[in-house]
Amino acid sequence: MSSIIRIDLILHFFSTLPSVAVMLEALLLLFFSSPVVMVPPLSAPVACKRCCDPLGPAEGSGDQRAMPEFSHIPEVRTFINMTILKGDKGDRGDRGTPGKGGEQGSPGSIGPTGPQGSKGQAGLPGEPCKVQYSAFSVGRRKSLHTQDAYQTVIFDTVFVNLHEHFDMFEGKFLCHIPGIYFFNVNIHTWNFKETYLHIMHNDTERAIVYAQPSDRSIMQSQSLMLELELRDEVWLRLYKRERENAIYSDDVDVYITFSGYLVTPK
Ligand SMILES: *[C@@H]1O[C@H](CO)[C@@H](O)[C@H](O)[C@H]1NC(C)=O
Ligand SMILES: *[C@@H]1O[C@H](CO)[C@@H](O)[C@H](O)[C@H]1NC(C)=O
Repeated sequence: MSSIIRIDLILHFFSTLPSVAVMLEALLLLFFSSPVVMVPPLSAPVACKRCCDPLGPAEGSGDQRAMPEFSHIPEVRTFINMTILKGDKGDRGDRGTPGKGGEQGSPGSIGPTGPQGSKGQAGLPGEPCKVQYSAFSVGRRKSLHTQDAYQTVIFDTVFVNLHEHFDMFEGKFLCHIPGIYFFNVNIHTWNFKETYLHIMHNDTERAIVYAQPSDRSIMQSQSLMLELELRDEVWLRLYKRERENAIYSDDVDVYITFSGYLVTPK
């Protein structure tokens, strides 16, 4: 029969056997806490076996006798649990090389809208004359007679008015691009009335369109080029009543035209 006994009992037992005891005691001290399996003490020298031996017919039936030379001492067999022989934990190893990147995951969902940012700084001033083209051509379908004061010739028909540089309400071309401009005026005279109007640059007369009174009405024209600054105005001005004059037109045809365009910017 086998049994498990405490280690101190084993040591006590081996202390009676001088030579072997010293060796075994040291061994047992080494594995102080390990469970030790041993056969029963002196009083029962019956057959023994390790608890982990498989049960066989030879052990079960025949080999029950104890060895004669050990009949007076117990047979001690130790089972050493290797798990507790493990040493202390070693030093930490060097860091390994980085592993390969994993597969890309699926995109996450769109996050919530963030708060509105603060207002940005004002940009640099833009270029007022960035447009490099300017052209207009307008006409008038109504005749015009002098009044007590000078009057601006107003037009009612637009042929061309690029970027609205010609103000139809004021009857004036306004310079958005400084440069050299070409202007042309065509009018039709009135029978027995004088024709007397000016091409105005701001409030300065620059050229006249003139015809003496006649029994024959005729087409008259004037052309010129002007160098204009930004916001300069070019327009037509009819004279005052002190000189009875008029220009002719009718609903059927356009007799009066005023045209201008940028020749070259500054
Ligand atoms: C060995 O010892 C460990 C820790 O004490 C224990 O978990 C394990 O069951 C033992 N192994 C055997 C075969 O007794
Ligand atoms: C023409 O008039 C405009 C507007 O009043 C002004 O800005 C510009 O300097 C004037 N041009 C000239 C040549 O006087």
